[in-house]
Amino acid sequence: MSTHQQGDAFENLLREDRRFPPSAEFAAAAVAQPALYEEAREQGAEFWAGQARKLLTWDTDFTQTLDWSDAPFAKWFVGGTVNAAYNALDRHVEAGRGDRVAIHFEGEPGDTRTITYAELTEEVKRAANAFESLGVQKGDRVAVYLPMIPEAVVTMLACARIGAVHSVVFGGFSADALRSRIDDAEARLVVTADGTYRRGEPRAPQPAGAGALARAGHTVTNVVVVRRNEQPVEWTEGRDVWWHDVVDGASAEHTAVPHDAEHPLFILYTSGTTGKPKGILHTTGGYLTQTAFTHLNTFDLRPETDVFWCTADIGWVTGHSYVAYAPLVNGATQLIYEGTPDTPHQGRWWELVQKYKVSILYTAPTAIRTFMKWGREIPQQYDLSSIRVLGSVGEPINPEAWMWYREVIGGGNVPIVDTWWQTETGAHMIAPMPGVTATKPGSAQVAVPGIAIDVVDELGKPVPDGSGGYLVIREPWPSMLRGIWGDPQRFKDTYWSRFDGMYFAGDGAKKDDDGDLWLLGRVDDVMNISGHRLSTTEIESALVSHPSVAEAAVVGASDETTGEAVVAFVILRGSAKDDDDIVTTLRNHVGKEIGPIAKPRNILVVPELPKTRSGKIMRRLLKDVAEGREVGDATTLSDPTIMQQIAVSLRK
Ligand code: PRX
Repeated sequence: MSTHQQGDAFENLLREDRRFPPSAEFAAAAVAQPALYEEAREQGAEFWAGQARKLLTWDTDFTQTLDWSDAPFAKWFVGGTVNAAYNALDRHVEAGRGDRVAIHFEGEPGDTRTITYAELTEEVKRAANAFESLGVQKGDRVAVYLPMIPEAVVTMLACARIGAVHSVVFGGFSADALRSRIDDAEARLVVTADGTYRRGEPRAPQPAGAGALARAGHTVTNVVVVRRNEQPVEWTEGRDVWWHDVVDGASAEHTAVPHDAEHPLFILYTSGTTGKPKGILHTTGGYLTQTAFTHLNTFDLRPETDVFWCTADIGWVTGHSYVAYAPLVNGATQLIYEGTPDTPHQGRWWELVQKYKVSILYTAPTAIRTFMKWGREIPQQYDLSSIRVLGSVGEPINPEAWMWYREVIGGGNVPIVDTWWQTETGAHMIAPMPGVTATKPGSAQVAVPGIAIDVVDELGKPVPDGSGGYLVIREPWPSMLRGIWGDPQRFKDTYWSRFDGMYFAGDGAKKDDDGDLWLLGRVDDVMNISGHRLSTTEIESALVSHPSVAEAAVVGASDETTGEAVVAFVILRGSAKDDDDIVTTLRNHVGKEIGPIAKPRNILVVPELPKTRSGKIMRRLLKDVAEGREVGDATTLSDPTIMQQIAVSLRK
């Protein structure tokens, strides 16, 4: 977003004077009470020590809460040992909660499974034994390329149990994207499926997985394939095994060994400003503490009675923190749904809310805007009265969508928690507490208790209320990333070098007159498409890897439904023809290189790209074109007539 746009958007946002305090009953009974803020303020880092001991079962208690002596490399809960899977599973069974439903699974075709804590614990123990029998050891990396089926969660927890580090790759990424992630992490095992369902059609992730493996380095010794829908499978004898062959027959006895609080739990690749995705590294004790804490407090969770539904795929951080880990660590019951919201009809989600009596729903603004487009008559056909808290994540939620969510889905009387966080932060960082905060449509509002958020100017000075700047985090937090896999320097450069001693999030933000925070989108080359994070450079690299393309520039243009959409400007090589075919070819090429989610909405063939005298592409001007606005100040261009040439070529 260019600065003037941010300014305009903010002027409008600042006019927001609606407030929605929680009802007196909700406030009185809420999990998070106002005292939580005071406690956090008074105790500093020790606040988290208290939470860690309260929320987790430790094998060995820690001796130091935070070691920040090697900043920005943090160590939380030093000396403590803990097992993530034990905390998510065994301890609930040991405490007599084995019969509680952990997962209600609904497949896209309507097949269902109800899995209790006792059953899930057994399944994870079997999978852990199976993985160990395939030679997986503590510290080994396991790539996971699965649809939203229970085996995805089982795999992640089985890895955590034995101390293997999972690297989940979103099923919508291509074979090439999977391959580069397998190579970067030097994964030993890959867990995938023969297929999934998408909009009623069987879809096959495995051939993509197999294609990736064919070209991957030689670190992979085994591939475990879950049978989901009997799609044809490319099989490599001696390397590939069926899940049901190795897991179903494995022993259900398995002891969870304690791991150091700082033992790596997972790597999750995310887009940065360069073409190469970063492997974000999370460790065990701090991550579990803050995800469990926020899940409990931000969503006002009652594990005995709530049915929690986070609609995110496990391929994204939201699916890690608020599907695979926090709900299970907190002993909650959750719904996992495999398919799309419009299959077989546009009321599918609401049918599921009604069927499972979902009480806490956590989704992205993009989904909400899609439902708005489909019309309120659809959700209104279902009984949504079980809902008592609504959450939003992944991108700024516009006040109109916020109000619609509240009225149509929440019946006009449930709190909405807009949660800001990132793959890097691991857990919620900015969010209202539903029983405390009077919510404000469009604003994520306040830092989570125990978290130090600020908005600073170019020089790192805090801005006063009513002004905007860069979002930073002033103090280390338990679920912070511990680094970028294999690249400590990039970790320092990306997050810790912009402002002295502060974490730079890459987001623009403003404080309104009440001091509440408004997130204004990325200030770097990262785009947010339907809440999915993609980098402009990554897509540019994909485009120029095609023989017809000489140069490419990509911008995120605002889009009513998806928040942002990918718009690409390309210069073709001399021999390539500018016609519809080339656009289709290039869209498909990006799909193959990165994945369908990265396909540009528009590809515009242009004679030149606007560059400064030093050769830097002025994306701001391209963004003006992509959004149909008058082009801004172009005086610093090396050739000021270029924008006219582009305009003429686009008119053609
Ligand atoms: O720009 C912010 C946006 O999503 C980015 C992080 O993306 P990712 O690592 O994929 O994690 C998404 C899910 C946590 C942030 O830098 N973002 C996330 N949540 C919000 C948001 N922007 C505005 N409001 C939010 N609630």
